[in-house]
Amino acid sequence: MALFVTAPASAGTTLGASAAEKGRYFGTAVAAYKLSENAYTTILNREFNMVTPENEMKIDATEPQQGRFSYASSEQIVNHARSRGMQVRGHTLAWHGQQPGWMQSMEGTALRTAMLNHITQVATHFKGQIYSWDVVNEAFADGNSGGRRDSNLQRTGNDWIEAAFRAARAADPGAKLCYNDYNTDNWTWAKTQGVYNMVRDFKARGVPIDCVGFQSHFNNDSPYASNYRTTLSSFAALGVDVQITELDIQGASADTYRRVVEDCLAVARCNGITVWGIRDSDSWRASQTPLLFNSNGSKKPAYDAVLAALNNGTTPPTTAPPTSVPPTTAPPTTAPPTTAPPTTPPPGQGGCTATVTVNQWTGGFVANVRVTAGSAALNGWTVTITLPSGATVTNSWSANSSGTTGTTNWTNVSYNGRVGAGQSTEFGFQGTGTVGSPSPTCAAS
Ligand code: XIL
Repeated sequence: MALFVTAPASAGTTLGASAAEKGRYFGTAVAAYKLSENAYTTILNREFNMVTPENEMKIDATEPQQGRFSYASSEQIVNHARSRGMQVRGHTLAWHGQQPGWMQSMEGTALRTAMLNHITQVATHFKGQIYSWDVVNEAFADGNSGGRRDSNLQRTGNDWIEAAFRAARAADPGAKLCYNDYNTDNWTWAKTQGVYNMVRDFKARGVPIDCVGFQSHFNNDSPYASNYRTTLSSFAALGVDVQITELDIQGASADTYRRVVEDCLAVARCNGITVWGIRDSDSWRASQTPLLFNSNGSKKPAYDAVLAALNNGTTPPTTAPPTSVPPTTAPPTTAPPTTAPPTTPPPGQGGCTATVTVNQWTGGFVANVRVTAGSAALNGWTVTITLPSGATVTNSWSANSSGTTGTTNWTNVSYNGRVGAGQSTEFGFQGTGTVGSPSPTCAAS
């Protein structure tokens, strides 16, 4: 009797299995109320290995009344997914859209505090269960400004995005933290460049961001562009992962779907692709028939194109350098200040100085501290900051700390202790109370 060894039945025959063979995931948005529908879960369970709750983790769903959290439908999706080996993208912790009424009418300090509390509560609730969080969604303006969108969150201060990321990191250090947006797919668009510059700045300053989500809702007003791969690879070159988070394509051109898959596979740091719904009838833009399955659950030509592209794709090559980077937005060419100097200097000859920049609101603050080496390179540093009474540190980044009140000492972490002569590095902390204008001292170690 001949024995035939066959690959697992699913290998290369479903979106999830084929993506997994390329080290990627293939996901979909899921609505909790559809999980009782057999036709829906049959496709979901067969094809996908990543799930994003379509509405159930939004602020209006998880905190419908201030301080009262509600997780029934989001947990239903998380449990359905994880019990079947699928992972979960969390969507979304901070957004101008789908805010509950109580939050819509908030501004200023009260809103900033409520936002940080929301992030802390929700990310803590799902701690350890989320592959990546869309920490902040859609914060940039459409059009040619390249700047932030006006919103009640934006009006709490330009640092609201980084404050959100820091709160999310503190709550669930194991989740990848993403910034997510739409109309950021075309590399030449001002909005794309605005987000790119923010991510570059975040990476330079040690703000904890791990990934950028590209919603990729392609339609006649915002079509797929051939520079999409340049966009993905340019962001990846900043040192973040990239994820295609809400893909749908008006008319579901098989060729365009194929190109999107090929673009992701061409960028080593493109983790995976999520389509925004399973069947056309599940789409938020159903009339555009933008998805991979017909309303009756049958596979469309776009499905076949995606599966073939996943199976044809070669093992991820190293990220191709961007081919058409506009001169004003090229990644920085200078080495980051944390790069180790070629030789190890003796400790502490030239000393160091530290300066603090504070963003204070009623009841809380964020402090960024810049450590600058003197005439000799630093091997390590300690900054001492005396906080006024009533000020308490609740969260910090890029430094080890001792104490949360009164005299606090901050020492470098492994990656930012070495600072070249005259060069700088930064760390920061967040707290409650009033911090005033502290005068830090710095010592080389
Ligand atoms: C959409 C959902 O699909 C709809 O069910 C809901 O009515 C509105 O929101 N960008 C996002 C998603 O980040 O949260 C949006 O989802 C689609 C656009």
